Amino acid sequence: MLLFNTQNELVSYLTTVSNDATAIGFVPTMGALHQGHLSLLAEALKHNAVVVMSIFVNPTQFNNAEDLAKYPRTLEADIEKIKSVSDKIIVYAPSVDDIYNGNTVSQHFDFDGLENQMEGQFRPGHFDGVGTIVKRLFEIVKPTHAYFGEKDFQQLQIVKKMVEKEQLPVKVIGCPIYRESNGLAMSSRNERLSETEKKEAAIIYKTIVQAKKRFKTKSATEVTNWVKKTFEKNKNFTLEYFQIADEATLLPCLRKSKTKTYRAFIAVFVNNIRLIDTISLK
Ligand code: PAJ
Repeated sequence: MLLFNTQNELVSYLTTVSNDATAIGFVPTMGALHQGHLSLLAEALKHNAVVVMSIFVNPTQFNNAEDLAKYPRTLEADIEKIKSVSDKIIVYAPSVDDIYNGNTVSQHFDFDGLENQMEGQFRPGHFDGVGTIVKRLFEIVKPTHAYFGEKDFQQLQIVKKMVEKEQLPVKVIGCPIYRESNGLAMSSRNERLSETEKKEAAIIYKTIVQAKKRFKTKSATEVTNWVKKTFEKNKNFTLEYFQIADEATLLPCLRKSKTKTYRAFIAVFVNNIRLIDTISLK
């Protein structure tokens, strides 16, 4: 495992181990690694000669200063986890200055409206921040393949849109959601949950699995109302949104169409910790 803290060092190393024909796999993360992140690494290792993982808590994608301050930073433990997967991973863990050089203002993107739904509504500016950092990291690492989790499905679609619109020479690959044994989607934020909260948070996945079953015979509105009622009964959880949307446009499903593929999206607060999950309704 090799660790670089500056883009200059990373780029000069990459030029010594790759050429135009080398498959370079890239897994961007914000650290506090768990099995979900490591499953992306494993996928990248299968298909690329060189694999880079970045660890960078990106300030421009946080719309809440407390969330940014409380985001777990566990670089040493992260490195041990990466080593347990393979000793040939290249880790890039830069400082804010190395990335932004004193200018932490996001670029503004047009993602054809994908940015206005769900996370975009509740986290203003979030996707401009994600677009800014992912584009910057792509410019530095120059990957041929980049791996993103379906856990953040809206982010995955937005990155694909950015690559298409800006004609970036990278293939974006979506990977399945890795879950705890009780179904809770793995997330760096889960570290902030108590053991009891973690157990109780299984309700999020259980509810979306039930929602999927109901959607076979019921409308999106009926299913959404049922989900809302389920969370109203549960005082430890606050539902921020539940939306059934078209996977391609992320627009809400008003009337079912056989030609579209739908997906359910959910965001829930457990105390002040925000958790998201998603499920394909196919
Ligand atoms: P982060 O939340 O650290 O996630 C890094 C990558 O891991 C993302 O592609 C995310 O979808 C994926 N991931 C997270 N939990 C997962 C799980 N349980 N199963 C499978 N994949 C999972 O997403 C970000 O960081 C940032 O926005 C980033 C893209 C790095 C830009 O700053």
